[in-house]
Amino acid sequence: MFFDSHAHYDDERFKDDRFETIMKAYESGVTYILNASSNIASSVDTVSLTREFDFVYGAVGVHPHCADEINDDTYKTLKELTKEDKIVAIGEIGLDYYYEYSPKDVQKFHFAKQIALAKELNLPIIVHDRDAHKDTMDIIKSENAKDTGGVFHCYSGSVEMLKEVLDNNFYISVGGALTFKNAKKLVEVVEYVPLDRLLIETDCPYLTPEPHRGKRNDSSYVRYVAEKISDIRGIETEKVAEITMDNAKRLFGIK
Ligand code: NI
Repeated sequence: MFFDSHAHYDDERFKDDRFETIMKAYESGVTYILNASSNIASSVDTVSLTREFDFVYGAVGVHPHCADEINDDTYKTLKELTKEDKIVAIGEIGLDYYYEYSPKDVQKFHFAKQIALAKELNLPIIVHDRDAHKDTMDIIKSENAKDTGGVFHCYSGSVEMLKEVLDNNFYISVGGALTFKNAKKLVEVVEYVPLDRLLIETDCPYLTPEPHRGKRNDSSYVRYVAEKISDIRGIETEKVAEITMDNAKRLFGIK
């Protein structure tokens, strides 16, 4: 049984077959899914998904791409949405200097502010960090995100950075990128990471693992990530599934 700790079923690429795709993933053994949000509309859709499917949980928040859409009402709405039973995290939030769709200063400001909200609500955060390792860690430290913890999704840092991530009470999550040919740095990270700090994810519809790279991703493909971890760590895939399931439930406070 797998826990896909990061999916985007509110994405328009699922608009024609959302229900079937989610049910197909469940029947393939993915018995828990966390849907991560990108902005307010997506957070509202995430809440709907958690109501529709017993096994879907959610995070609400504003992705760094959309940071310049944020206004005062955004925070009121986010807070309201967290009153839902199955909203278990704030995310995804962070910094994206690769695309830089929102100005860096705006991204930093709202990353810090959403960390403060998560701390106030006592919820873990889901961190998106793309080409922004230093500023991401600086903000995690200056905002004392350690107090509430969370996960670096699609972790792309080094083993050195991982030590800091772990010291600050964070987990890491790995997805399809681990199965790619050029995954050397990520393989080293997976060799090193304590197994009780590791989650698995798809980030679907993006980042489809081998051997399906190029197709639309969905949660049923999370098993390829678990199989790759199994190869790297020399433990059975079922054991990887069990450990990452326990970790995700502990992090998100799911019984
Ligand atoms: Ni994502």
